[in-house]
Amino acid sequence: MRMKAAVLREQGLPKPYAESRPLSIEEVELDPPGEGEVLIEVAAAGLCHSDLSTIENLRPRKLPTIPGHEASGIVREIGSGVHGLKPGDHVVSVFVSACGECRWCGNGKPNLCPTSTASKAAGTLASGARRLRLAAEPINHYSGLSVFAEFAVVARNSVVRIDPDIPLETAAIFGCAVMTGAGAVFNTAKVTPGALVAVVGLGGVGMNAVLAARVAGAARIVAVDVQPAKLALAQELGATEGFLATEPGAVEAIRDATSGGLDIVIETAGSLKAMEFAYAITARGGSTVTAGLPDVSHRFAVPLSAMVAEERSIRASYMGSCVAPRDIPMLLDLWRRGRLPVERLVSGRIPLADVNAGFDRLSEGAVLRQLLIPSL
Ligand SMILES: NC(=O)c1ccc[n+]([C@@H]2O[C@H](COP(=O)([O-])OP(=O)(O)OC[C@H]3O[C@@H](n4cnc5c(N)ncnc54)[C@H](O)[C@@H]3O)[C@@H](O)[C@H]2O)c1
Ligand SMILES: [Zn+2]
Ligand SMILES: [Zn+2]
Repeated sequence: MRMKAAVLREQGLPKPYAESRPLSIEEVELDPPGEGEVLIEVAAAGLCHSDLSTIENLRPRKLPTIPGHEASGIVREIGSGVHGLKPGDHVVSVFVSACGECRWCGNGKPNLCPTSTASKAAGTLASGARRLRLAAEPINHYSGLSVFAEFAVVARNSVVRIDPDIPLETAAIFGCAVMTGAGAVFNTAKVTPGALVAVVGLGGVGMNAVLAARVAGAARIVAVDVQPAKLALAQELGATEGFLATEPGAVEAIRDATSGGLDIVIETAGSLKAMEFAYAITARGGSTVTAGLPDVSHRFAVPLSAMVAEERSIRASYMGSCVAPRDIPMLLDLWRRGRLPVERLVSGRIPLADVNAGFDRLSEGAVLRQLLIPSL
């Protein structure tokens, strides 16, 4: 079938993207789903900073590709051998297509499935196939999803079925920002009631960490960003206080206000500076949990001896350490009960044609989640 999609041919073009147009809206060919694959009609796709980092060339990818890895949609066709899904079902996308058979899948860590990492790097679906073409030229799949498009063919394990009464636009954000931010709190850090928590970087991912820290019963939730408006919203969503990372003496001010730092600090900014800040405000005995994905060349240095003497730990969190078929329904249930009001994080609904300007806004730090609605 033919469909409209946002194609990325070159990384690292200059800003503003509304002028350099790294994503071009083109008519591309999408082949039908093969064995173990499904065709979905994309209802909404969120603009995540990871897509922006791809556009900026901080994370090299096989080109051309169609980005987008956070979406909701409706199943339109199923390939042979697909179980548990039928046309008409509503789904949320998952950016790791777990094989279900490897050591990591078997150990309850499907978010780390190396089969998925390999197919991502190759620009294919989990099966090794490509279903996207521009005439004869193959287009690479992005995280097995490529949802900045009207339709997508994906592996069965790249989607989780959701209840049909959940608004699809709200559901889209669960595919990345909610799993990553809330999962970092619940699964990776395992925040317990009374914990002193900070979140550094209050974007779509970080705000979900704030919401989840509140659900987990954290006694203090310190919100840190470089934009004053983000601090104000975080406090409305449950943060107990806010600090600007750019304010001179901010680290000392936070350490003083918390009598020695935080038990758990979650870094969701995606920069080395933010990680250094997060480590500096972590208390002795505490954990710094990083979920940001900065430039692949960046290195983080720690004073080893002090780290030992203070029993500090550094943890990393990918897709919120989630088991998607278990955690997406759990997180949606929290949303249903008003505990994760993620609608507050939607900054706008935009048509495919506005995608480049949308990434300008994300890059300026002015917005949270913008939803691309291909049918607009
Ligand atoms: N680990 C994962 O599985 C995973 C999944 C999704 C996104 N990510 C990464 O998480 C990061 C956040 O994604 P997002 O979509 O929420 O981005 P975003 O652009 O919406 O938010 C980033 C926030 O960090 C703030 N910030 C920038 N520099 C800062 C600093 N030095 N100190 C404090 N705050 C700072 C910005 O003002 C902004 O509010 C990105 O690096 C993204 O690639 C990781
Ligand atoms: Zn993402
Ligand atoms: Zn696996």
